[in-house]
Order: sequence, then structure tokens, then C-alpha cells
Amino acid sequence: MWPYPTYLAHRGGGKLAPENTMAALRCGLEHGFHAVEFDVMLARDGVPVVMHDPYLGRTVAGTGNVFDYDAGELAAMDAGSWFGERYRGETVPLFADFAAACRAHGIWMNIEIKPAPGFDSQTGTVVAGLTAAMFGPELARDDAALLPLLSSFSREALAAARAAAPGLPRALLVDRLEGSWETDARALDAVAIHTNHKFLTPALAQQVKQAGFGLFCYTVNDPARARTIVAWGVDGLCTDRLDLIGPHGPR
Ligand code: G3P
Ligand code: MG
Repeated sequence: MWPYPTYLAHRGGGKLAPENTMAALRCGLEHGFHAVEFDVMLARDGVPVVMHDPYLGRTVAGTGNVFDYDAGELAAMDAGSWFGERYRGETVPLFADFAAACRAHGIWMNIEIKPAPGFDSQTGTVVAGLTAAMFGPELARDDAALLPLLSSFSREALAAARAAAPGLPRALLVDRLEGSWETDARALDAVAIHTNHKFLTPALAQQVKQAGFGLFCYTVNDPARARTIVAWGVDGLCTDRLDLIGPHGPR
């Protein structure tokens, strides 16, 4: 049901490095993590980049929207100095480069498809297509553990990802387990539900497991909370506090 690692570094290096950068990936590795969650969206030219916000200004110096710029322009922008002067020079990674670095270091990926508003379907198609091209040999072997997991809050993006690369596993992201999550997850052939741990209860965890899905929680920064929800049956979680929750669990 969940053949993947249990503990993932959120946005590459959690809160210990500028999120979604190569420096974040290095930080995760330094803390022993070989499993990572990160966010991907499209630049103006349709090239996917590793980025959380659909606009500049918080983590990337500049103004406007991500889709106002080509990937090459974003890849030259400062995505590090907001976090600390020593990270000046970190740039917005191209998804292809970031994923290649993960593969080179044996880092398992939970790729969150994070479409900018209005680009849901296109983002799902492009990200899934590129990922499938990269994982051709693994897709040919029938071993889910070898594949990255695509997740998204956007049902439309996940449907497009399925159409583009049906062999790649998908997870539905929901803030709360309410409404049509189960029907939607089944309609998308999702293998897992990713949800906010703050709203999880033992009963809800049991419901997800009994429905046959893997259960993953974001973003757990308290070691005691991590122990609690894993005891409830949570299969995986991502954390910002790599110093408190390590690759093998609470330190
Ligand atoms: O993928 C889990 C988590 O990252 C979802 O929320 O906003 O941190 O991307 P966010
Ligand atoms: Mg995310």
C-alpha cells in the first residue's frame, strides 16, 4: 500500500535551507534524508521549475507571476538570499535538473504538481510526461517502490498526469479528509491520500487505510506528533524540522 520511505524532507531541506533549491536538497542529504517532497509549476515557456508560490517576492527576489517569466529567466533569479546571505546565488531549479540530482543521489521523490491558477491540466501533463521519460527503465519493471509519487491538490492536474503517464503512481492531496476525497481518489486511480496532519484523527486514519489507500501527512514538525500519527497507521510524512525528525523518525 505504501512501498515508499516513511520520512521525507519537505521542500528539499525543510526550514533549514531555502526551500525548493539545490541547497535544500544538499541540506536534506546532510541530515541523512534520501526522500524528498518538492513543488513543481510551469514557467511561461511551459518548462517546469521547482517553486512553491505562483508569484515572486517571498522566496524569489522580484515581482510578478512565475508564468510571466521563461524558465531560463527564473533559473537565473536569486532564490536563496531571502533565507540567508550565504545562500545568495541559489537559483530557481529547473525540474529536470532537480529530478536528475535526486536520481544521481538515490533520493526518492514525492513530486507535488503545483499548477499556477489556470494551468492545472498543462502542468499535470508536462510534469508526468517528463518524469515518465526519466523513469523509462523503472516503468518497464513492475516495482512501484522504484517510481516517484506524483501528488496534487488539483484533481485536474492529476487526471492529466494519468492520461500522460498512466504507469506513474498518483496521490490526492487534501487539506481535510471531508467531502468527496474517497470518490475522487478512486476516480483518479490514486494509490495514496496526502493530508494535513492537523485535522487527522485515529478514525479518519483508519477510514483511509480501510479504503485501501496509503496515508501520508504534511507537515509534521513535532517528534511526539510524528510518533502519534505513525501509531495511528500513517505510512509517511514530510517534515520541516530535519534536525528533530530524521530519516528514520524522531531523533
Ligand atoms: O505535499 C505536501 C505539502 O507540501 C503540501 O502543502 O503548501 O507545503 O506545498 P505545501
Ligand atoms: Mg508541497
